[in-house]
Amino acid sequence: MIRDYRDRSPASRDGGTLVEDIMEAHDRDPSLVAANDLVAALTGPYVAGLDTVANTLASLVYAVLKHPAVLERVRAEADALFARGALTDEAISDLPSINGAVLETLRLYPIAVAQPRVANRDFEYAGYPIREGEPVYCAVTHAGADEALPGQGQRGASPANGDGGRQRGNAMIESYWSLA
Ligand code: HEM
Repeated sequence: MIRDYRDRSPASRDGGTLVEDIMEAHDRDPSLVAANDLVAALTGPYVAGLDTVANTLASLVYAVLKHPAVLERVRAEADALFARGALTDEAISDLPSINGAVLETLRLYPIAVAQPRVANRDFEYAGYPIREGEPVYCAVTHAGADEALPGQGQRGASPANGDGGRQRGNAMIESYWSLA
């Protein structure tokens, strides 16, 4: 990427890409983006995007196709959006069904399931003593599927909820839409 950027004439750069921003910042002030940080700064977003966005989009397609009523709403919203002309920031900021689909997908099929942390002091959590310096995995996405937590009961409330697990998730994605 560095070589490619250098090989292109300044006139051929279209501006506004992350690669160009990082390289321009480095050329302007190497103390801002150091030479030995360039490889990580340039490749990191690709790795982060492949792991997260690509897999989340695959889950989104799966989740939407699995729910015909949801598919209908998402498709109608997308058709109406494109019928209004070119996409703008403003136009895409008001897409309740599509936005709801993405949020529900992140909740039902979270790609980053836990955040690793290190305890900076002794504490007790749910009866388990945690000592300073111990590694801890915070399963933050568990909250999105825990009916005991506020909000989940209503969102998941549906006659189809009985079996829990994935079936409950499917019911939740539909009840979310009826709320959106
Ligand atoms: C569905 C998409 C994504 C999800 C679910 C996601 C999720 C996460 C999570 C859970 C963390 C850890 C936060 C923490 O430990 O406190 C994180 C960190 C980070 N993500 Fe993403 N991410 C996504 C997309 C991206 C993309 C596309 C980029 C870059 C273009 C990116 C760049 C980063 C960076 C730089 C960090 C580290 C932030 C820091 O330590 O200060 N992420 N992401």
